[in-house]
Amino acid sequence: MEITRENLDSIALYPFRSESELMATLQEFIRIYNFERERIPELYDSEQGISAYLYYFFATNVPKGIELLKRIYERQRLSFESGPVIDIGMGPGSFLVSWLKFFPDFSNEVIGVDTADLMVEQAHEIFKTYFPNIKTTFKNNYRDVERKENATLCFTHSFNEMSEGEFMKILDYFKPERLLFMEPGTHEVFHKLKAIREKLINDLNYQVAYPCFSQATCPISLDSEDWCHQYVDVRHEVSIERLTQKLNKDRRNMPTIFHVYHKKNLEGKVDKSGIIFRILKETKFSYDFIVCSQIENSNQLRQVRLLKKQLKARGVSKKVIKSFIPGTDIKFKIVEEKNAFTIIELN
Ligand SMILES: C[S@@+](CC[C@H](N)C(=O)[O-])C[C@H]1O[C@@H](n2cnc3c(N)ncnc32)[C@H](O)[C@@H]1O
Repeated sequence: MEITRENLDSIALYPFRSESELMATLQEFIRIYNFERERIPELYDSEQGISAYLYYFFATNVPKGIELLKRIYERQRLSFESGPVIDIGMGPGSFLVSWLKFFPDFSNEVIGVDTADLMVEQAHEIFKTYFPNIKTTFKNNYRDVERKENATLCFTHSFNEMSEGEFMKILDYFKPERLLFMEPGTHEVFHKLKAIREKLINDLNYQVAYPCFSQATCPISLDSEDWCHQYVDVRHEVSIERLTQKLNKDRRNMPTIFHVYHKKNLEGKVDKSGIIFRILKETKFSYDFIVCSQIENSNQLRQVRLLKKQLKARGVSKKVIKSFIPGTDIKFKIVEEKNAFTIIELN
């Protein structure tokens, strides 16, 4: 499925009469998402709203999902393909499309749940047209989905729209082997998810596979102005890119919160050392970062420094370092502690 305006025109529930009608609907959408969150369910009540979602959020969330799956897979090959995938709050099926693009030979069941009838209708339209051979089950109520063994349960831009109580009920119903979140990269969502992280690890027998390197408590406290999120750098097809530019929104470099868990002792080991948390200002002789990594038995943030002369001597190009973004995994060894910095070398 190539995501272009033209292809989306043929599956959208509502035919926009003009570009300005689409723009106005999207601007209202974005305003409600940002400032009137209690009105979010209204957005999913009209064909016009669902189609606006399709052209902008679906179109840009599909490549984002693929990038994030790539990132976790580079770190740890979890057995995602060994069981069904269930997306709660699937919308038009954005992440399920990412999943099928990332795992083109996926042969297990693809399940989506969404309380909005029109989202489910839109998902049917997409899958009927583009994935006619995939066995799908789409429902409004998660209790209408049979419990499945060995499932991956996903929450994609939906966890932030539900209460913690609702989330816990769904988790308890499915008791999945693997659990994945892809959510907006905000301070509020981070802390909501951080509370769940501690519960999953301490009370429910899960291990975190991403983004943390150890099961120890997260080092970021509620009163900190900073929060853990990752950036995803994606490219969109020209007609979609033009739409995001007209809206004056950057959907290429998207802040996101991506977490993955699996049942304890289920999966293999990881050989990376840390994840870039923040990029600091480049100096004349170094690139500086804050990295979150395991130190003894805890997760800690530390200021690390890569010396330019060492990088040059080892033939590491500037381009590699410049490609680092919050969320990039790095493998390093410590050279020495100097002033407030840990001098490191990349492995
Ligand atoms: C922002 S959309 C995300 C859609 C899609 N997952 C994506 O990433 O593009 C959030 C979706 O979650 C659904 N949703 C919110 N709370 C839900 C719940 N408790 N159970 C099922 N779906 C829910 C909404 O109806 C909406 O379609």
